[in-house]
Amino acid sequence: MTGLNNKKILVCVSGGASAHQMPELLAALKAQGAELSVLAAPDAADWVSLDLLAQLTGTAVRLHSQGEPFSETRLVQVGEQLSEVAQAWLDDVLGSLSNEPFDTTLFLAGATAVERFPSIDQLGQAVLPTETGVPLPRFDIETILALIEKSLTPSVLADRRVLVTAGPTYEDIDPVRFVGNRSSGKMGYAVAAAAWRAGAQVTLVSGPVALSPPVGVTLIKVRSAQQMLSAVETIIGEQEIYISSAAVADYRPAQSAPDKIKKGADQMALSMVANPDILRGVASRPAPPFCVGFAAETVRVEEYARGKLASKNLQLIAANQVGGETGGFESDQNRLELFWPGGSKLLAWSSKREQAQQLIAVVAELFAARD
Ligand code: PMT
Repeated sequence: MTGLNNKKILVCVSGGASAHQMPELLAALKAQGAELSVLAAPDAADWVSLDLLAQLTGTAVRLHSQGEPFSETRLVQVGEQLSEVAQAWLDDVLGSLSNEPFDTTLFLAGATAVERFPSIDQLGQAVLPTETGVPLPRFDIETILALIEKSLTPSVLADRRVLVTAGPTYEDIDPVRFVGNRSSGKMGYAVAAAAWRAGAQVTLVSGPVALSPPVGVTLIKVRSAQQMLSAVETIIGEQEIYISSAAVADYRPAQSAPDKIKKGADQMALSMVANPDILRGVASRPAPPFCVGFAAETVRVEEYARGKLASKNLQLIAANQVGGETGGFESDQNRLELFWPGGSKLLAWSSKREQAQQLIAVVAELFAARD
C-alpha cells in the first residue's frame, strides 16, 4: 500500500479538455486505496461521463453549484482549455478555498490554467507537464499520484541535497559478457523516491536496472563501478547526504577484451582487480556529507554491518540479509536493520517502499541532530 491508502481525496472535475482523463486518474487513485469523492462543475458532463466517474469511485458525483461552501481538505483540480462556465466555476472554487483555513493542495494541468488563476499561488500548486501537439492535452498520472503523496508527507528533508546510488554495476569481460550481481535497484529507487517525498532535492546514480525513474528525481545512468565513481565524484561536493544502496562490484576483470572472446579450452581463468570503494572514498573526504551505507550479508548480519559502519566511518548503516528466499535482492519486500554510533532500529518486514520511508525518517532525525 502507498501513502494514499485510506486518504480522503476530493477530486474536482471542471468542464475542460483535461476532464477526459479523469476516469484514468480516479481508477489510479482508487487502486492506491484512496477514498474518493467527486465534485463536478456544471458543464463537466460535456467532457466526461459522470456515470462512469460514479462507477469508478463507488459514490454519486455531486454537482457543484456556485457559492456552495467546501468542507473537504484536499482538492485536485485538473483543467486546461477551460470553457467560460468552467472558468467561472474554478474562480468560485478557488475563491471559497482561499477563504477557508484548512490545508488544501491544488494541482493544475497546464500553465495556461495557472496564468488564468493566479490565486492558486496561495493554495500551494504544482503545474503538471502535459503532452503537447496532441488533440487533447494529457497529463502524467504517475506524476500526479507522486505529487499528491508528497503533499501528504512531512517535509523532514526539505531542500536537503541528497545523492542516492542504486542497482548493480556491470563489469565487462568483453562486448558480450559481463560480471554483475542480482541487484534490481528496487531498494535504492524506493529510497530516492522517499527522500524526494520528504522534500529533498534528489540525484540518483543508477547502475543498469529495468525500473522507471522516480518522479522528481534527477537520474544519472551508469554501467560500471568506475563510471559510478566518476558520476558520484562529479557532484558529491554539493551533497549534504549520501546514501549508498548500490551493489557495487568489488572486483572487475583486469582487462575487458575489445572483441568477443572465442570458445577454446575446457577451462578459463578470469583475472580480476579490485574496484575503488566509492562509499569509503566519500566518507573519507575532508568535509564529507552525512554518509549512509548499506550492508548486504548472508550471515552474521549485525556483526558485519557494525564492522562496515566503523571501518568506513559512516553515520548510519542499513543492513539486510541476502541470499534467502525473500528480502534483499530483487524482492519487493525487505527487512532493514539500522545501526548507527549509539543506536539501532530493527524494522519489521514490509515493502521496500515502506522500508525506505522509515529509513529516511531515521536519516532525517540523525541528520538534524548531527554536530
Ligand atoms: O537492488 P535490490 O534488488 O532492491 O536489492 C537491494 C540491495 C540488497 C542491493 C540493497 O538493499 C543493499 O544491500 N545494497 C548494498 C549492497 C552492497 O554492495 O553491500 P556491501 O555490503 O557489499 O557494501 C557495503 C557498502 O559499501 C554499500 O553501501 C555499498 O554501496 C558500498 N560499496 C561497496 C563496494 C564498493 N566498491 N563501493 C561501495 O561504495
